Amino acid sequence: MKSRPIIFFDSGVGGLPYLALARERLPAERFVYVADRGHYPYGEKTVTELRAVVLEVFGRAAERFSPKLGVVACNTASVAALDALRAAFDPPFVGVVPAVKPAAAFSKNKRIGVLATPQTVKNDYLDALVRDFAEGCEVVRIPAPRLRDFVETRLFDAPAAEKDEVIGEAAGAVRASGADVVVLGCTHYLHVAAELEAALGPSVRIIDSREGVVNQLVRVLDGSRLRAAKRDGEDGFFLTGEAPVEERYRRFAERFGFAGAEIL
Ligand code: DGL
Repeated sequence: MKSRPIIFFDSGVGGLPYLALARERLPAERFVYVADRGHYPYGEKTVTELRAVVLEVFGRAAERFSPKLGVVACNTASVAALDALRAAFDPPFVGVVPAVKPAAAFSKNKRIGVLATPQTVKNDYLDALVRDFAEGCEVVRIPAPRLRDFVETRLFDAPAAEKDEVIGEAAGAVRASGADVVVLGCTHYLHVAAELEAALGPSVRIIDSREGVVNQLVRVLDGSRLRAAKRDGEDGFFLTGEAPVEERYRRFAERFGFAGAEIL
């Protein structure tokens, strides 16, 4: 059981920065990354659609890899379908949700921006996080699907001017919100966090959930006595949908230390 892999799962490449930190902390574990390219994007789907998609894809991955744990490395899938996944499958799950709590603690002007997909910004789960952890704060919800699409499809090919424009648009919306802290509430944005930080300047602090998620992953592994003693096999990077695997996914796989990218 302990030598089984941990599955990281997202609609695309967003979960990779989370997996990178998990690998650093848990070098004995084997990881399988699943990018649900066949159903990308998640952020414009309804909760009902997301539940069906996520259950189907995780079910397929679980059959093939028999994971000991699942990390839903996607805010949209977590807010919409984490409860459904937990009800349907045996392994424990760790979700990724917008880091509203640390943002509320950090904000001086008590105005927080949440940059996320259209589904996440309107989801009840975010309302509950705001109610429970951001009392007294104004939370401004900023949907940024264009920034997500840029990361998924254009990160390696876009000319500098295009990159600056897309990042500048998101930074402009954050600045216009008047927030002094912005939560990266879509995992894709982590790939351009440094550029976003530069575009925002020193008056807006960026918060993401990587630390919190990986700490939770370690807690769940230890709590369930599931930690691997030694590494057993290679990590894998898989995509849903039809062949061929586009060049950009090979580049992502290489950047994040995988031998290649395959179809699930
Ligand atoms: N990366 C996902 C998230 O964290 C969303 C991507 C999508 O909309 O497909 O919300």
